[in-house]
Amino acid sequence: MNLTPEFEKKLDEAVTHYPVSKRSAALPLLHLWQEEYGFISDAAVELVAAKLDMQPVHILELVTFYPMFRRVPVGKHHIKVCRTLSCALGGSHETHACLKKLTAADGDPHGPCTSSDGKYTVEFVECLASCDKAPVVMGDDDLYENVNTEGKAQAILGKYS
Ligand code: FES
Repeated sequence: MNLTPEFEKKLDEAVTHYPVSKRSAALPLLHLWQEEYGFISDAAVELVAAKLDMQPVHILELVTFYPMFRRVPVGKHHIKVCRTLSCALGGSHETHACLKKLTAADGDPHGPCTSSDGKYTVEFVECLASCDKAPVVMGDDDLYENVNTEGKAQAILGKYS
């Protein structure tokens, strides 16, 4: 995989922030990678590991442990629906189904569902730390609470049109 010189420089610069042990740069490099490419590919795992003198399996452990890292590409806008207890009881499965219907997102109901135009990915996630305002949705980096009607779901999507 060929990286742009600018992106390679960005990665190398991030590593310099951890002079004691460059292994500590693993999470920052993965975040930078995901910001640049949208997900962490096998090539990314290999490259980050090589840059930090680590075994790829140790990078893969981080990628698969932390739910904010994605292993597959997602749409331009990532809509995350909390499915943990409070939100599940508050109707998050209905909210998820509604958002899927409104965006025509398709795919494995337990994984990311992406619209055919690549504009939206709708996905269940675990607790978004706003449990008393269930059901809770994140649109890209924005938090939306009490998303319990189709109108509210529609309004959220309208912000990303
Ligand atoms: S259970 Fe949904 S935000 Fe915590």
